[in-house]
Amino acid sequence: MQELTIALTKGRLAGQTMELLGRAGYTCEELGDKKSRKLIFTNEDQKLSFFLAKGPDVPTYVEYGAADLGVVGSDVVLEENRRVYEVLDLGFGRCRMCVAGPPEARALLDSRAMLRVATKYPEIARDYFYHRRQQTVELIKLNGSVELGPIVGLSDVIVDIVETGSTLRENGLDVLEEICGLSARMIVNQVSMQLKAQRIREVIGNVREQLEIGARV
Ligand code: PRP
Repeated sequence: MQELTIALTKGRLAGQTMELLGRAGYTCEELGDKKSRKLIFTNEDQKLSFFLAKGPDVPTYVEYGAADLGVVGSDVVLEENRRVYEVLDLGFGRCRMCVAGPPEARALLDSRAMLRVATKYPEIARDYFYHRRQQTVELIKLNGSVELGPIVGLSDVIVDIVETGSTLRENGLDVLEEICGLSARMIVNQVSMQLKAQRIREVIGNVREQLEIGARV
């Protein structure tokens, strides 16, 4: 059996991924041990290794072949634009990438004035404003709590993830435009896809089957 290494996104996505993989027949008992300080978790019987990484690093590990497979949000896939194959939409982690801001920013957006846009996703924001809206903007990269941007006067609008919408609501901001829907994706290293084709196809097939069963109930 060919060995596989799988990169998981730390946090809620990792839990949802292991739950789905478990249903597909792939498990890792070690991963459930919250006290462990180990970084790599293995299932010797199934010849599987797992590690947890920050979302934006997952496509990097997969592109370089440090992991054969990875599971990460499509926001990260779009932003990082790494040379990997995206093979499955796993359906969980659903949210939206949006332009948001105070209600008065709507007129500014429509006036096509030069806007300041704060975001953790400069590539997605650049692509949206420059190519889809054909509008020149000033992009300001932030690393979190992006909603602060318009509140403290750093930017006119933000480009950020909206899940429940409560962060926007509690800060007096509205969704002004939706850029795209997002969800967790399985990505594959391009060389592994050839060299470990049989095992990887089997994993994809078993996971897809579970997704189809889940969609029917
Ligand atoms: C994300 C995102 C929004 C929030 C949206 O932030 O950047 O801030 O979640 O969720 P909601 O629509 O359910 O309120 P995250 O919690 O990842 O932290 P960050 O702001 O530090 O990036």
